[in-house]
Amino acid sequence: MSTRLLSPVAARLVGDLRAAVAAGPARVTRTLARYLGADDLLGADQRIPDPTAYRQHVLHVEDDGSFSLVALVWLPGQATCVHDHVSWCVVGTYVGEEEETAYRLAGDHLVPVRTTRTPQGVASFLVPPGDIHSVRNNSDALAISLHVYGADIGVLGSSVRRRYDLPIHQG
Ligand SMILES: [Fe+2]
Repeated sequence: MSTRLLSPVAARLVGDLRAAVAAGPARVTRTLARYLGADDLLGADQRIPDPTAYRQHVLHVEDDGSFSLVALVWLPGQATCVHDHVSWCVVGTYVGEEEETAYRLAGDHLVPVRTTRTPQGVASFLVPPGDIHSVRNNSDALAISLHVYGADIGVLGSSVRRRYDLPIHQG
C-alpha cells in the first residue's frame, strides 16, 4: 500500500474512504466532509506550497488503484488549467476557500457555466463526462483542499483526462 507518513487521523480517513468507495462518490463526499475540520490531519510537510504553481501532495494510493487521496496547496492567485477528469472526483476545502468555474465546450471555444466558491468544511463531487472546469484560490490567504479520485494517480500521475487550451467566450 502506498501511504506516505499519514497522521493517525489521515489513516482513519483512508480506512473510512476504503469502506465508502464501493458505494460511490456521494458517500465518499460525506465521508471526506467529516474530516475537513480535523486540524491534525495534515502534517507540516504536507502543507508546504510551491511559489510557482499549486502543489500536489499524494497522501495515499490504494493498492488496487480504486482510489487516491491527495492534498493540493494553493497560494493566493494560483489556479489550474481548464481540464476534465478520467474518473469521479471528490473535493473538500480543508483550509481557506476555493473557487471553481465550470465550462461548456461550444465548438472551438469554452463558455463559463457557473462559478462556485467553496469555503472551509464543504465537500462536493463531480462525475465525468461534462466535468470541464478550472479551480483557483481567489482569496488573499493560503488554501488547502483534499481530493479523492476514483483512479490510481500513482500510475497516471494525475486525474486529469485532458486540458483545454481554448478561448473563453461569455455566452
Ligand atoms: Fe479538477
